[in-house]
Amino acid sequence: TGAITLDPGYKNTGACESEITFLNGEEGILRYRGYSIEDLASKSNFIEVSYLLIFGELPTAAELEKFEKTIKKYTLVNEEMKNIIDGFPKTAHPMGVLASLTSALTAFNPKAVDVSNEKDMYEAICKTIAKFLVIATWTYRKAMGYPLNYYDNAQGYVENFMQLMFALPTDKYKADPVVVGALDKLFILHADHEQNCSTSTVRMVGSSHASLFASISAGVSALWGPLHGGANQAVLEMLEEIQNNGGDVEKYIAKAKDKDDSFRLMGFGHRVYKNFDPRAKIIKKAADDVLGALGVEDPILDIAKKLEQAALEDEYFKSRNLYPNVDFYSGIIYRAMGIPTQMFTVLFAIGRLPGWIAQWKEMRLRNEPIGRPRQVYIGENLRDFKAINER
Ligand code: CMC
Repeated sequence: TGAITLDPGYKNTGACESEITFLNGEEGILRYRGYSIEDLASKSNFIEVSYLLIFGELPTAAELEKFEKTIKKYTLVNEEMKNIIDGFPKTAHPMGVLASLTSALTAFNPKAVDVSNEKDMYEAICKTIAKFLVIATWTYRKAMGYPLNYYDNAQGYVENFMQLMFALPTDKYKADPVVVGALDKLFILHADHEQNCSTSTVRMVGSSHASLFASISAGVSALWGPLHGGANQAVLEMLEEIQNNGGDVEKYIAKAKDKDDSFRLMGFGHRVYKNFDPRAKIIKKAADDVLGALGVEDPILDIAKKLEQAALEDEYFKSRNLYPNVDFYSGIIYRAMGIPTQMFTVLFAIGRLPGWIAQWKEMRLRNEPIGRPRQVYIGENLRDFKAINER
């Protein structure tokens, strides 16, 4: 083998060619299939954007109708899945439960997707979109000790998220349209982000021709970490801690700058955006709109604004190009909607699902080779085995 180039964290290594998402970190540009994120967030909806990401074009009215109808065909989840949920303690983190349940879906859908068969692929995609939403909300119902809800095919996908989470058995539940609109926008903003940690995980696992559910389950695990999707929960916990400690944002700025302290300002910085995160701009405005429309006055929002201002004026953050990212404001909106903090990263996963599916599909259809990075060995040279009494 020739010389191996080391690139820890793949900061400068391209793993694939892709037609899905264009991202320019210097200029803060994000586009799905050529459409700007600003346009999609204000003019489209999540199901339409999912179709766009996965199939490459905005759907016609007939294509959209068929897509929605096929998703609805698969919204029932096997009752035996409930036995698996029952095995978890109530205190289990929803992301861990979601990863397990996603993986468990393989047991009930064992047939491998025939990627060369368009219909088979289409059905598998719709099935994944349908069932993932239901099991994602079941992680919350389990944590609360509530009975599990069923998808209501008379309502839309995002309405169903709220219904599945919050409907009581006696209720004719109707979600607040302001909440549904904001959630729809948040899901669009999270829907794809090219080769991030969870997406490249999905591609890597899928590259061994493991099943779609197994690949998505791996993506959920990757997303869980606080440096990735878990940041939205971490942001809110950080803001609450600042509030409980008297609201002194400067103290936390100093902590984040201190190289002897492992604390990082959660919701700040991004591997690729070194100017601003275009999603954060849209979300910041959405946070103001939603809190206004719902009539929520949240002191946490004031702390967030103070912290953002202080960081943006600070030389440490300026010189390292650290700006608020998508997760800085999303948690504040979720909180205003009554979503519990532990569920924030699950919402990220629901939003990211179409991106994972689109990237998996692209990888398989391009017949990409199995992912298998190399290494530079820095361990011991050959040595003689020592018997146990000689060690
Ligand atoms: N607070 C304090 N210092 C930071 C932060 C932060 N949030 N982020 C980066 N730095 C510093 C870092 O210490 C380093 O300083 P120095 O050059 O003195 O060693 C410099 O900035 C460059 O950081 P890096 O760790 O080399 O950058 P990276 O590209 O490896 O990491 C990141 C990107 C997003 C993991 C990181 O910025 C971070 O940990 N942010 C906080 C967690 C977060 O908000 N994650 C969500 C990311 S957006 C959504 C998603 O992807 O899921």
